[in-house]
Amino acid sequence: MKTILLLTGPAGDAQGWGDLRVTKSMCRAIKDSGLDSRIAFVSTMEAFFAAMEAGGFDMVWSALYHISDKSDIIGTGTGQWLADYFDAHAIPYIGPDSATMKRLIDKTATHDMLAAQGIRVPFHTEISPGQALPDVRFPAFVKPSCESRSVGISDDSVVHTPEALARQTAYIHNNFDQPALVEEYLPGDEYTVLMLGNGRLQKFLPGRVEVDPQLFGKYPILRSDLRGVGVTRIKRAGKMADQAVALCKTAVEALHCLDHVRVDMRMDAQGDLKIIEANGIPGLKPVKSWSPQLFSLYHTTGKGADRDYQELIHCIVSSALERYGLA
Ligand SMILES: Nc1ncnc2c1ncn2[C@@H]1O[C@H](COP(=O)(O)OP(=O)(O)OP(=O)(O)O)[C@@H](O)[C@H]1O
Ligand SMILES: [Mg+2]
Repeated sequence: MKTILLLTGPAGDAQGWGDLRVTKSMCRAIKDSGLDSRIAFVSTMEAFFAAMEAGGFDMVWSALYHISDKSDIIGTGTGQWLADYFDAHAIPYIGPDSATMKRLIDKTATHDMLAAQGIRVPFHTEISPGQALPDVRFPAFVKPSCESRSVGISDDSVVHTPEALARQTAYIHNNFDQPALVEEYLPGDEYTVLMLGNGRLQKFLPGRVEVDPQLFGKYPILRSDLRGVGVTRIKRAGKMADQAVALCKTAVEALHCLDHVRVDMRMDAQGDLKIIEANGIPGLKPVKSWSPQLFSLYHTTGKGADRDYQELIHCIVSSALERYGLA
């Protein structure tokens, strides 16, 4: 029986699929689908090396890009990139390869690669600490270049003047120790497309993100206080489904995504979808995260949320095992 090692740590929620409770749900789902699974909770590189050297697993699934004791932000990381270790030691792992992961965690790098291939992303520019402010078109949207879960995002993220741009850019630099990404503000509806599996097993599941409009403040955006609290509901994408799937397909091909990736997009002022980011380790909180919601929307087992979740996890694990010839 194949054993999947679920690797997580204090940063599992900020960097990856969710906290230790989520990891335990994944572990249970893997076991219930007939494989074996263990959890390694690591806080230091030494603990990570020890978990790797102990062996006893066939494939790793990591919630972490790099080891960090920060539970609130991803940060830019100073230590070794874990997927580089897996590659160097020929350890099979779930998700995109190391080079792709590094690009996905850096939203500016993702945008630049997609734009170079003619794939629709918002107008954007990155501002590093100390850099002079460039000319931008207003309204613009200012966010951290390398975070997740809407960290650093509030109604103040939408800026209309050079003064507000300077203020919000300084806020990102001072609080998150990373470059600020300035994008065209996309005023329309928000969509997300789940890419699941590879090759003949691959599925694209498009959804529209719905939030009670009363929860919005000045702008219809997913502020940080609206994330992780169960207020975002995924609905079918309706007439935008084909456009959303087509955009996601071109993006995941260009970026070389594998196994389980979620591409987020919003509509611009002209009614066209543009990609705002591709998530290399999408959230997997049962029921609350968008991947489980999308999976239940399209592939419900009819046997309840737990069984749907088990099926989703099985889809991800089995497609990764297959591409390594371990199925
Ligand atoms: N250019 C934009 N125009 C309007 N709203 C935006 C823009 N970029 C981001 N947002 C809003 O901010 C939210 C978070 O942005 P984004 O998806 O880029 O980052 P994230 O924090 O990595 O998200 P996730 O939790 O999905 O990983 C989006 O869901 C959206 O509501
Ligand atoms: Mg997002």
